[in-house]
Amino acid sequence: MPKNDPDAVGFAVVGLGMGRHHCRSIRAAKGAELIAVCDLDAGRREQAVKDFGCKAYASVDELLQDTDVQVVNIAVPTGLHADVGIKVAQAGRHVICEKPLDVNLEKADALIAACRDHGVKLASIFQRRLHPLSRQIKETVDGGRLGTLHYADIHLYWYRTDAYYAGGIPPGWRGTFALDGGGACMNQGIHSIDLISWLAGGVASVYAKTGAFTHHIEAEDVGTVLVTFRNGALGNITCTTSAYPGLTNDLHLFGSKGSIALSDEKVTAWRVRRDDGDEASEKAEERAMMDRYSGCGSDSSGAADPLAVGFDGHTVHVEDMVQAIREDREPIIAGTDARHAVEICAAIQQSAASGKEITLAPNLSGG
Ligand SMILES: NC(=O)c1ccc[n+]([C@@H]2O[C@H](COP(=O)([O-])OP(=O)(O)OC[C@H]3O[C@@H](n4cnc5c(N)ncnc54)[C@H](O)[C@@H]3O)[C@@H](O)[C@H]2O)c1
Repeated sequence: MPKNDPDAVGFAVVGLGMGRHHCRSIRAAKGAELIAVCDLDAGRREQAVKDFGCKAYASVDELLQDTDVQVVNIAVPTGLHADVGIKVAQAGRHVICEKPLDVNLEKADALIAACRDHGVKLASIFQRRLHPLSRQIKETVDGGRLGTLHYADIHLYWYRTDAYYAGGIPPGWRGTFALDGGGACMNQGIHSIDLISWLAGGVASVYAKTGAFTHHIEAEDVGTVLVTFRNGALGNITCTTSAYPGLTNDLHLFGSKGSIALSDEKVTAWRVRRDDGDEASEKAEERAMMDRYSGCGSDSSGAADPLAVGFDGHTVHVEDMVQAIREDREPIIAGTDARHAVEICAAIQQSAASGKEITLAPNLSGG
């Protein structure tokens, strides 16, 4: 039983880099209690015990002996997500998995299957989808207010230092295919890739070029992709970690009845044509959206610093898991919803390697 609130759901966090944000989020979340952390690194464990006053374990096997733990948040390097997650599912605990689900579709599917087979919930962290602005755009697009979408893009102009790529535990895991699943697209860009795909109704094909230009890494630090969405709309995905010193994260959606543009989660344009042709009201709606969303981006100032990421979205994910358990429903972003982003990134790599356009499987996965 959790010690403070007998009704609280007991959480543990594995991996104490980004996992420290999870610890803070769990402590901030209603109905959740941080029971324990787990990390191979003794220094990180000790610091977490000091900061969060919880138990600490040196291995996932030991952690899973703790009967107070009902949910395990996974924030180890990406290529270990499924390995850890499958153990957690086999032990009958629910899983909140950091993005992306894993480095390829085979491993992502193995994690999804293990959670399904063992009757536990699998949530994937894609905190940008949970932002109120993202949800309002989704309603606007799905409600037909932009008309027929014909173009959508994301441009992530970020910067990461050589020290960032040399760091992490194990050192140098970032930018490798085995542990990061890729580079600027799979690691930094995947939030935006997931978001544009979710908003525009899924990706049908990609034609990509990628390269490593300013870092000595195996995967790309620049990737640019021509996209065809499932509804036939065209688009572009460009992700880089070589835009010194870290610039903007932009998104555009153009439909037959209007345009939406964001920069760093602030609205820079919101022009939705009205059926009655009342341009003053159209401009007033834009003004209202700009006022409401002009600097409230909760989660994304990671242009230059990967740890400068807020934890509001993570708290929403934790609270949603608490409710999903209580109501016995799927989490707001289930594993199956997060699968498509991995599929898109894998197709980008396949296209860049082969020089060919890659067609994705028709709408089998969420997002
Ligand atoms: N949602 C976001 O905005 C966001 C931001 C940053 C990172 N991430 C994700 O978080 C994950 C971790 O990234 P990071 O930058 O924190 O990496 P990191 O290298 O800083 O931390 C990883 C931690 O996992 C621990 N670890 C590794 N293998 C382990 C094992 N088998 N058992 C227990 N602990 C183990 C390491 O000791 C280390 O402390 C990645 O999947 C990354 O994509 C998400």
